[in-house]
Amino acid sequence: MAVTQDHIQEAVAYIKDQCTVAPEIGLILGSGLGILADLITDEVVIPYNDIPHFPVSTVEGHEGELLIGMIEGRRVVMMKGRFHMYEGYGPETTAFPVRVMKELGVNSLLVTNAAGGVNTDFTPGDLMLITDHLNLTGRNPLTGPNDNALGVRFPDMSTAYSPRLIAVAKEAAAAHNFEFKEGVYAGLLGPNYETPAEIVMLRRQGADAVGMSTVSETIVARHAGIEVLGISCITNMAAGILEQPLNHAEVMETAERVREQFLKLVLAFIPKM
Ligand code: HPA
Repeated sequence: MAVTQDHIQEAVAYIKDQCTVAPEIGLILGSGLGILADLITDEVVIPYNDIPHFPVSTVEGHEGELLIGMIEGRRVVMMKGRFHMYEGYGPETTAFPVRVMKELGVNSLLVTNAAGGVNTDFTPGDLMLITDHLNLTGRNPLTGPNDNALGVRFPDMSTAYSPRLIAVAKEAAAAHNFEFKEGVYAGLLGPNYETPAEIVMLRRQGADAVGMSTVSETIVARHAGIEVLGISCITNMAAGILEQPLNHAEVMETAERVREQFLKLVLAFIPKM
């Protein structure tokens, strides 16, 4: 279903009725990383179900709430739980909240996800700054008529992930004696994990990590003129690298294991976003 200005405005009007804070930073949290929600103060919590035209998140380990409040003196809006195309939503629907964030006043966005490590130098538990992505979902959230009020027909993607924000994140990490991995995120439709042959193909194509989210949100954010910082939590090595099957429990366990580190870093760079 096409996203229209009316849908965006109705969702925004409802949210503005619930809270007076105009957020400047958006946060979209992937599997197991919802813990960031604990850091928000003075928050207003709005269930997705209550927001006009918001889809409903269905996957285990994700929750469906929008939180608006403060982190380290910055006004933030946080999606606790996101929408995936494998749930059956179109790419424009998965990225609808980004449109809403833009209209609320957001100009920079942190997107996080759980991802499989394709780069064999990675280890589960690593945090990877996304330097670029491969949209391999076969879909694009910007197809159909372009609304020029939302963005240009042919948006530039040469710096999809903001070099400025990457520098900010690296600097904050260095101050905590931490080093991010960096690399290219391949976004696939899912929901099955990849085959070993697909992982070999992805590595040859330049991917360092693979997951089932993020690319639609980033494309819409760039269309809307929002700066994007992306971080993947490498929760497992991708299929075929180790002689063991992949499962969602492992993904959640690893995300849980790195959460303290993750929180510390996010707290360090949010003030500079
Ligand atoms: N593949 C795709 N998505 C994922 C993976 C993976 O190995 N791990 C966490 N999300």
